[in-house]
Amino acid sequence: MNWSQIDENAKTWTREAGERIRASFNEKLMIHTKTSPDDLVTNIDRETEQFFIEKIRNTYPDHQILGEEGFGDKIDKLDGTVWIIDPIDGTMNFVHQQRNFAISVAVYHDGVGKIGLIYDVVHDELYHAKAGEGAYLDDVKLPPLKEVAVEQAIIGLNATWITENKRIDPSILAPLVRRVRGTRSYGSAALEMAYVTTGRIDAYITLRLSPWDFAAGLILVNEVGGKVTTLHGEELNLLGQNSVFVCKPGLHETISKDYLSKLK
Ligand code: IPD
Ligand code: CA
Ligand code: CA
Ligand code: CA
Repeated sequence: MNWSQIDENAKTWTREAGERIRASFNEKLMIHTKTSPDDLVTNIDRETEQFFIEKIRNTYPDHQILGEEGFGDKIDKLDGTVWIIDPIDGTMNFVHQQRNFAISVAVYHDGVGKIGLIYDVVHDELYHAKAGEGAYLDDVKLPPLKEVAVEQAIIGLNATWITENKRIDPSILAPLVRRVRGTRSYGSAALEMAYVTTGRIDAYITLRLSPWDFAAGLILVNEVGGKVTTLHGEELNLLGQNSVFVCKPGLHETISKDYLSKLK
């Protein structure tokens, strides 16, 4: 398998898709809802996924594709080469803000992460990693993550998880929010994982993500020595939904012991 060639193609297609998204800013968006009034999808999410699928099918007809908008394959196992794509991660930001969203593309082989790309379309910044070769922001290699004390940490966390909700008792994370230096919520899981990779935030905690939200971020964070698990400390399942806990080394253990161990 020529991974360098696949990597080059993935980068070229991702930048091209980003250019098309930027060009769409002047056009009228078609906005639809999916599972709830807050679950948005646009014609651009769909067209971007279709753009990737056409490229991949033409070049690699034996590869499988898992995409959020459902134009790819129905996948129930990770055998062979699988592309996992979120055409726009942060659709709500795309619609309301025209910023703070990303394209997320990952390539796995027999369940092992090989290539991870997160493209911040508006800033034209590509976070990328090839397994075993480190993580980069454009041409700059990112250094290994350093340990940080909880009191000096900034964590990515949505306010939902410390108010009444059906997934986690708010009393578990509220004391953590009080102890850390600050919290942030960017509204794009992929960007939040890219931010942990660069050290802009120290952790990211969320209760439910799908494989396309975290597949690329997982590869990037691993390359700089970060840790990605469920909130229960288990490995993420790329075929289903997961809680996701992304963290610098050391901090992962402390937050797990002091807070997440109280989870049922
Ligand atoms: C969403 C974003 C958001 C996260 C949601 C995801 P989408 O992805 O990553 O930050 O909190 O759980 O569904 O739908 O904009 O691709
Ligand atoms: Ca979505
Ligand atoms: Ca997403
Ligand atoms: Ca999406």
